[in-house]
Amino acid sequence: MRVGILTGGGDCPGLNPAIRGATLRLIRDGHTPTGIQHGWKGLIEGMTVPLTEERVDEIIREGGTILGTSRTNPFKNEHDLQRLLDHFHAFGLDALITIGGEDTLGVALRLYQEHQIPVVGVPKTMDNDLGGTDFTFGFDSAVSVAIDAMDRLRDTAKSHARIIVLEVMGRHAGWVALYAGIGGGADWILIPEVPPDIDAMCDYLLRLYQHGKRYALVVVSEGVLLPTDDLNALPLDEFGHPVLRERGVGARIARIIAERTGLETRDAVIGHIQRGGAPTAFDRMLATRLGLKAAELISREEFGVMTALQGQEIVAVPLEEALRKPKLVPYEVYEEARQIFQRLYLQPQRSGAP
Ligand code: F6P
Repeated sequence: MRVGILTGGGDCPGLNPAIRGATLRLIRDGHTPTGIQHGWKGLIEGMTVPLTEERVDEIIREGGTILGTSRTNPFKNEHDLQRLLDHFHAFGLDALITIGGEDTLGVALRLYQEHQIPVVGVPKTMDNDLGGTDFTFGFDSAVSVAIDAMDRLRDTAKSHARIIVLEVMGRHAGWVALYAGIGGGADWILIPEVPPDIDAMCDYLLRLYQHGKRYALVVVSEGVLLPTDDLNALPLDEFGHPVLRERGVGARIARIIAERTGLETRDAVIGHIQRGGAPTAFDRMLATRLGLKAAELISREEFGVMTALQGQEIVAVPLEEALRKPKLVPYEVYEEARQIFQRLYLQPQRSGAP
């Protein structure tokens, strides 16, 4: 079979190991892998590159994607969709391996269901918010960068006796903030799934200072909503998601903390720094295994599915099931984290308490 491989949506560490895993297994099984450049845009515009063993040999350690990516949605207009289908047939493709998050895989599912294109999905996103899989690659690498940022910010916060608010990505899921907050020893964590209790946070930060810890670190996820925020007022991307990058929620929270507590406060945003660089060992291994499995499913002609990590196993789950709803941080998991970031000895005294 001639099998197209594409990467769509935001880049993240692990894409190259996944391309490598899929390519090597496809070649082993006697298929011909073809790289499609820049996600769905490449299939609309007809941009391909050969994928050989030599080409993928050394890419295990490279961040980004050798195929390029885009946030192009071919279902936005019929002309693009038709061009995509024409190119699929003109290139003699028999199947597609689509590596991406909910948007890229959502397109793959529609192509499979509505246009009978044989697809196998591979889940990636630094947000870790895809259903059907325990983890997506890109997440562990992004969290490692965020924890490194926390370690560095701690030095400055401590030296200057400041509060520093770190804003991380994650869209509507707080996984990156939660893991970075716990792994980096934050004093407060704000995630989109749990409405922020600004009063409790400011009160706690003041108590920290009163108790003698004269600095603090706060992690906030970019998708956290303040009471006056209106997501409908934001511009939308091609897939209809509100664009969060200009909200500056970290800076706004830092300002609120400074005003309410009178404590010197700064903010830092790591932005796309958390999406670049070499993949961690975990992401290299996970992405490789997910890519290998995708190629295996192609050989078995099992289409309309996504490879997924469940426990220690790499399995196939129907794309439809994986995309049914995003995987958000459950309230209990946030409460579990609170046991660490909100220390008991700093709780307000209840009246009548001994
Ligand atoms: O989905 C991955 C992600 O990094 C989100 O966390 C973030 O909101 C978005 O992509 C940023 O997109 P872009 O790279 O297009 O600015």
